[in-house]
Amino acid sequence: MEKTLVLIKPDAFAAHHVGDIIKIYEEKGFRIAAMKMLKMDRRLASIHYAEHIGRPYYEDLSGFMTSGPIVAMVLMGDDVIHRVRELHGKTNPADAAEGTIRKLYATSGRRNAVHASDSPESAEREIHIFFNETEIYDE
Ligand code: CDP
Ligand code: MG
Repeated sequence: MEKTLVLIKPDAFAAHHVGDIIKIYEEKGFRIAAMKMLKMDRRLASIHYAEHIGRPYYEDLSGFMTSGPIVAMVLMGDDVIHRVRELHGKTNPADAAEGTIRKLYATSGRRNAVHASDSPESAEREIHIFFNETEIYDE
C-alpha cells in the first residue's frame, strides 16, 4: 500500500490542533504506519526542505519549522500521496478549498499547519529522513 510523510507543523502544534488533524486522517480511512514528536533543528530542516534552500523565504521557513515541536507521521492507504495533498489544500490558506486542513488551521502561506510529500519519490526520501524501517508498521 502507498505511503506518504506528513508533518504537523509548529503552528498547528502550538495551537493544540494535533488531535483535530489526526482525527481527520483517521476519519478518511488512512492508516497510521509511524508517528513521533520531535523538534527540528536547522540541519534537519535543510535536509527536509533541500529544494527550497536559496529561495527568498528559506531562512524564515527554516526559522518557523525549528520554532517548536512537530509531529511526524507516515500515513498509508490507496492513492494516499495525492489524497492527503488534496485534504491539506493549497499552500496558502487564502487559496485553500473549504473543509481542507489548511483552510481550517493554517494562518498564512508559511504557517500552514501541515506538510505532505508531493510524489512517490519525495515520499520515499522524506519518510526515511524521519523514520527507519523498524519504526514503520506497514503490515
Ligand atoms: O507545502 P507545499 O508543498 O504546499 O508548498 P511548497 O511550495 O513546497 O513550500 C514548502 C513550504 O514553504 C510551504 O508549505 C510553506 O510553509 C513555506 N513557504 C513559505 O514560507 N513562503 C513561500 N513563499 C512559499 C512556501
Ligand atoms: Mg512542497
